[in-house]
Amino acid sequence: MASRRSFGLVVLFLWLQSAASESEVIGMLGSSVELRCPYDGEKSLDKHRVQWQATEPVPCLVDAYFPNKHDKKNCCKEFRNRTQFIKEDFSLKLFHVTVKDERTYECVVQRNTSIEFNFAHKATVTLKVAAYYSKPSITRIGQTGDEMTFNCNSSHGYPEQKLHWTNQMDNSLFNVTEWPATLEPNGTFSVSSTLRIKSASNIKLECTIENERLGQNTTAVFEETNSSVSSENNKSANSVSRHNRPAVMSILVVILILPVIMYICWGEKSCPGRTYTAGVCVEKAEHANAPVETEHSLISGTVGEHQ
Ligand SMILES: *[C@@H]1O[C@H](CO)[C@@H](O)[C@H](O)[C@H]1NC(C)=O
Ligand SMILES: *[C@@H]1O[C@H](CO)[C@@H](O)[C@H](O)[C@H]1NC(C)=O
Ligand SMILES: *[C@@H]1O[C@H](CO)[C@@H](O)[C@H](O)[C@H]1NC(C)=O
Ligand SMILES: *[C@@H]1O[C@H](CO)[C@@H](O)[C@H](O)[C@H]1NC(C)=O
Ligand SMILES: *[C@@H]1O[C@H](CO)[C@@H](O)[C@H](O)[C@H]1NC(C)=O
Ligand SMILES: *[C@@H]1O[C@H](CO)[C@@H](O)[C@H](O)[C@H]1NC(C)=O
Ligand SMILES: *[C@@H]1O[C@H](CO)[C@@H](O)[C@H](O)[C@H]1NC(C)=O
Ligand SMILES: *[C@@H]1O[C@H](CO)[C@@H](O)[C@H](O)[C@H]1NC(C)=O
Repeated sequence: MASRRSFGLVVLFLWLQSAASESEVIGMLGSSVELRCPYDGEKSLDKHRVQWQATEPVPCLVDAYFPNKHDKKNCCKEFRNRTQFIKEDFSLKLFHVTVKDERTYECVVQRNTSIEFNFAHKATVTLKVAAYYSKPSITRIGQTGDEMTFNCNSSHGYPEQKLHWTNQMDNSLFNVTEWPATLEPNGTFSVSSTLRIKSASNIKLECTIENERLGQNTTAVFEETNSSVSSENNKSANSVSRHNRPAVMSILVVILILPVIMYICWGEKSCPGRTYTAGVCVEKAEHANAPVETEHSLISGTVGEHQ
């Protein structure tokens, strides 16, 4: 009895004291999460009592370890059968994480100092829960005259997300600031956003759902190009990826410079004089099909001619 009262006093005292150790952990909805109690002392269980409690909104006992006692009926109902005390490191495993588990937890360690149990350690863990949003999908839900309407939806994420629509034609953001979120029965959110834009023949839209807590960005793309506009060839020429640019440049260099060199050589009747120069010319012609190398031999060739 006396030790129980002193335990109560210790807890009260701790409320006024700043936490010894604080951490934050993310638990995925529906799975399990481990709350750590980083106690440095030797963790022999016959000398310790460990109590895991949830603080706000109402303090409640989550799990506890008392030597020679295995009675858990004091634990609050919402955690019953969902916890496992890890004896090796005093941490707590919580199963089937729900949105309601998003609370602050304390691990209080008391040590038997041969007469009574005294406070030894306290750790605070804030549990944040999260769930990934499903990949969004964009649907065209209407087209009237000069206006088109699109919908983007995604489901069962947590916590509430950010959503943005991007116009990929000019990389601008659409000014959509409202997106109704629906609270699902299991506490997750689903979102559905409507976008109205002027009709256009070429459309490329992106809808991105961002779950900041998880660093998740998931995107849907809607694309429609008016194929009757014969811009396909011009477009593909413009959209050569940056990756291919050096190769394209060398080909251009060859195409532009080769005739000049050939003309000079032709004019000098197959490079009369130094055979070395003639060799360069021949080499040039041979390499015309290998653009990467040609650029190099062009440079050395020019140097050779000036020597
Ligand atoms: C919530 O419920 C939906 C539909 O019942 C399910 O698809 C989703 O996985 C659930 N999410 C969690 C975290 O339990
Ligand atoms: C916990 O499990 C026991 C036995 O498996 C069961 O009788 C009890 O109803 C469960 N309690 C809760 C709150 O689920
Ligand atoms: C504390 O430890 C002492 C000596 O090891 C033991 O006699 C005593 O029963 C322990 N107290 C409790 C409450 O377990
Ligand atoms: C998203 O919208 C499509 C089309 O309107 C619908 O079929 C689908 O069920 C919606 N999905 C969600 C998760 O609301
Ligand atoms: C976006 O729309 C809101 C209200 O619909 C408006 O107050 C705001 O000025 C708009 N922002 C821009 C950049 O157009
Ligand atoms: C997600 O997108 C937002 C807005 O574009 C950006 O600020 C953020 O860094 C992105 N996050 C990740 C993890 O890519
Ligand atoms: C393509 O665009 C032309 C004019 O820009 C229009 O007359 C035609 O109906 C469009 N075709 C489609 C399939 O949208
Ligand atoms: C390429 O674009 C030009 C104008 O920029 C146009 O006159 C021409 O018809 C286009 N060619 C093709 C194949 O689309």
